[in-house]
Amino acid sequence: MTSLNTTTRAALLALLLSGAAATAVMAATPAVQPPIPAVLKSPEARDVHSYAQPLVARVTHIDLDLTADFANQKMTGTAALDIAAAPGAKEVVLDSKGLVIKSVTDAKGAALPFTLGKTDPILGAPLTVQLNGAKRIVIAYDSAPGGAALQWLTPAQTAGKAKPYLFSQGEAILNRTWIPTQDSPGVRQTWTARIVAPAGLKAVMSAQMLTPNGEPLAGKLGAGGGRAYRFRMDKPVASYLIALAVGEIAFTPLGQRTGVYTEPSVMKKTAYELVDVEKMVEAAESLYGPYAWGRYDLLVLPPSFPFGGMENPRLTFATPTIIAGDRSLVSLVAHELAHSWSGNLVNNATWSDFWLNEGFTDYFENRIMEKLYGPERANMLADLGWSDLQGAIKDAGGLTGADTRLHLDLAGRDPDDGMTDIAYQKGATFLRTIEKAVGRARWDAYLKNYFARHAFQSQTTAGFVADLRASLIKGDPKLEAAIGIDQWVYQVGLPDNAVHIKSAAFPAVDALAAAYATGGPAPLDKWKGWSTPERTRFITSLPRALSKERLADLDKAFGLSAQGNSEIRFVWLELAVANRYDPAVPSLQTFLTEQGRRKFVAPLFKDLMAQGDWGQPIAKALYAKTRPLYHAVTRQTVDTIVK
Ligand code: BES
Ligand code: ZN
Repeated sequence: MTSLNTTTRAALLALLLSGAAATAVMAATPAVQPPIPAVLKSPEARDVHSYAQPLVARVTHIDLDLTADFANQKMTGTAALDIAAAPGAKEVVLDSKGLVIKSVTDAKGAALPFTLGKTDPILGAPLTVQLNGAKRIVIAYDSAPGGAALQWLTPAQTAGKAKPYLFSQGEAILNRTWIPTQDSPGVRQTWTARIVAPAGLKAVMSAQMLTPNGEPLAGKLGAGGGRAYRFRMDKPVASYLIALAVGEIAFTPLGQRTGVYTEPSVMKKTAYELVDVEKMVEAAESLYGPYAWGRYDLLVLPPSFPFGGMENPRLTFATPTIIAGDRSLVSLVAHELAHSWSGNLVNNATWSDFWLNEGFTDYFENRIMEKLYGPERANMLADLGWSDLQGAIKDAGGLTGADTRLHLDLAGRDPDDGMTDIAYQKGATFLRTIEKAVGRARWDAYLKNYFARHAFQSQTTAGFVADLRASLIKGDPKLEAAIGIDQWVYQVGLPDNAVHIKSAAFPAVDALAAAYATGGPAPLDKWKGWSTPERTRFITSLPRALSKERLADLDKAFGLSAQGNSEIRFVWLELAVANRYDPAVPSLQTFLTEQGRRKFVAPLFKDLMAQGDWGQPIAKALYAKTRPLYHAVTRQTVDTIVK
């Protein structure tokens, strides 16, 4: 029974309770179809970013058997899918983008007819397979040539400089470029994988790692020293959370159930930075209940990883730009860890509900930081988040901008377009506003309970709102009015009751920035004692127009152009570009060459392009060189900026 997933187990239980014969229950392959998750039956759960028709036929398990072919930059092999089909359903529709499909068969090898529909530039093409009664289909295929999920790095793009590297990024709808499945966050499946990696390279995935050292291979592949690695995820997850990396990867334990994977040459400083991870898991559990995934490890990737972090279950993927040397950027770990509840345990059913993932997680991240490092550090981070919110509202066209809504209309659009700081910061602000209205104790009890009640289920905005009313507000008209749920979730702008958490330290920082701008000395002694959020605040609080002399003085005093702290380097370079400050250009060029995190890369190119005849030539010449180094996610965004 232990190998059965939750839904299967629930179905069995229901059957037993209904008095059905035990013999029927014990049949080898489940004669019982797992029940359709209730959320999928609600109209709001219809996913405009997937061709899947999960109410007709749904993928419940994926079994991958793939070889990482570095020479041809493709994954090649098979995906076997278990299908739960409604009575009479004849076909299953999968998502695919650029996949090279070689054959589709049933479990016994009999060919099944399939068609690949017309390709949409955002969604890719539907892969429709005739089931002919099959419950399991086997697809032989190659990943999409140049597909967006996978980045194949040359040895020069790694820390070790000796071996190539491969990693995947699934969120939002990229996994359909290397896995033929229903790539919709409302469809959860368990999965297993066998990955063949070349000699000297290790494969890791967001699952239980069954063969940490790999297994030798028979035949030609084995002669070359390649090995096979096996993985198992026995909890149902959304497809965007299936993740893979292959490279020269070492492991260091951090705590009992935590550890870090990264390249051997950067392991020492990486493990130093992450000492608090085990404590973070404990803090998170004390807030919202048991960690549901077993181990919590991190994989710190080469610098072209396009995000700060990605919450792949059991194995957060993270950018090396958080390795500052002083553990000052670990809130990112708190964030990705928080997704183990908000995102992985209960995840957005569609990308229009993205705020359910990120707003909850930003809120939860801050609670973990508070628990571990105290309220003042948490308040500073929340206050910087408030500034980010103001920036996001501006970018969305102001308080009346359609995309200032939490629940988004993304029909016909790339889900990426909706993934702004509104989801994160307006989302977190909404939850703080509820917390204030009901009190922390009651709110925490509700949240803990919410995660337990919806564990391993996808959730829509409407579903959350209904739950909030049923289990927290409980018809209290005063509470309902004090919060104003519908305005927060479905309307544009920022409601008047928004809670702005203020740092007690920032007013002094702001005053020093104002004094510096008008000719005062660079506050070096203060700077030395400041934390990263205070330093960030000082630089972002300076007026955007500063004289070359003031900039030179600041750079010299604080060593800004040579900053190893990526967050501070970033805000400094933004200020420098705004002022067309030539001496910072080499630092800018290095920064944009040495890492490819979109959050840093895209705004700096945008700032450069906004600086007409000064910035545009710099941007164009630089992007011609750095574009091939970036992951498709970063490239896609910067391509729309540097033209
Ligand atoms: N899940 C996101 C990353 C993501 C978002 C990938 C949208 C694809 C589409 C992750 O949890 C995240 O939010 N990362 C942030 C860092 C965080 C500390 C705010 C990032 O990458 O900057
Ligand atoms: Zn996140």
